[in-house]
Amino acid sequence: MGSRLIGYGSYLPEKIMTNQDFEKIMDTTDEWIVQRTGMHNRHFAADNETVVDLAAAAAARALENAGLTIDDIDMVVCATTSSELDFPSVGVQVLGRLGASRSQPAFDVRGACTGYIYALHCARAFFAAGMHHRIMLIGAEKMTRFLDFNDRSTAVLFGDGAGALIFEHSSSGYSGIIDTVVMADGREFDMLHGTPDHKISMNGPETYKKAVTLMPEAASYIMEHAGITADNVDWIIPHQANLRIIQSGAQRLGFPLEKIVVTVDRHANTSGASGVLALSYALDNGIIKKGQLILYPAFGSGLTWGAALIRI
Ligand SMILES: CC(C)(COP(=O)(O)OP(=O)(O)OC[C@H]1O[C@@H](n2cnc3c(N)ncnc32)[C@H](O)[C@@H]1OP(=O)(O)O)[C@@H](O)C(=O)NCCC(=O)NCCS
Repeated sequence: MGSRLIGYGSYLPEKIMTNQDFEKIMDTTDEWIVQRTGMHNRHFAADNETVVDLAAAAAARALENAGLTIDDIDMVVCATTSSELDFPSVGVQVLGRLGASRSQPAFDVRGACTGYIYALHCARAFFAAGMHHRIMLIGAEKMTRFLDFNDRSTAVLFGDGAGALIFEHSSSGYSGIIDTVVMADGREFDMLHGTPDHKISMNGPETYKKAVTLMPEAASYIMEHAGITADNVDWIIPHQANLRIIQSGAQRLGFPLEKIVVTVDRHANTSGASGVLALSYALDNGIIKKGQLILYPAFGSGLTWGAALIRI
């Protein structure tokens, strides 16, 4: 049993933070940021805007795109690591915001930047088990909650935003979420983690080295598992952490750069929202078309990493 994508939507906060804005508040330059990361802009949520606000806005747009209401959804899975509240889950709060009245289940997945792949993995399993007909997958993050403007090596890297995808059960195994693989290595905790005072602790160069090997590794694994090669894939949407990581991964896999969806230049790293936002962006802009096969590799804090294959 498989699935098919029947709706998508995204939400980005109004405020755009440029590299030039960073130049005014810390010892950095547009040139350094662009050269090391490929980032130009990122969106910053307003102080009173919460992760739930971002998630609910993206979810509402996905429902509108699908021509559905929240009560047509049987389960909500939300990838997020930046909720202001420890409980309840952002997923349940989204149900409340959108006026759900069916008592359908909702929960969050805390997979950091690999969160949306973990969420896709869950959705695939529920479809395979035949347990739910329609699943909404949300990726939502307010990464600015964790930014320390005294730490120039991390402050410039992240942005806020949310995306939502709606999948419906299908008897075809060749559409929607076709395959997923997720992995974790807790021994690499020190490389990248949140701190008790809600900051980001990251060894940038070590994280970079892991990212350029783990994302291609997950991508190769899933292609092999599905019995396909890079030639069969129409688009690759890598986790949008850094343009150099994306380009290096593509080179290792033998993917031409024209097959890669890039949003890191305008959204920066939105962690668990990144791939969902990037897919919504590519669909909205007619970059990805119906019937195309997408390879979705990601990595993040944990370390966690994985990949998904999706046919639109
Ligand atoms: C963070 C990252 C861009 C830094 O690039 P780098 O080439 O590894 O740079 P380094 O950390 O070695 O720092 C090089 C120099 O730039 C400086 N620097 C760091 N941030 C800077 C900034 N925003 N502006 C200007 N200079 C900066 C450092 O202080 C250092 O200076 P020094 O040589 O005088 O000590 C890069 O390591 C990276 O992208 N890592 C992966 C991060 C990531 O993707 N995290 C999310 C995972 S989901």
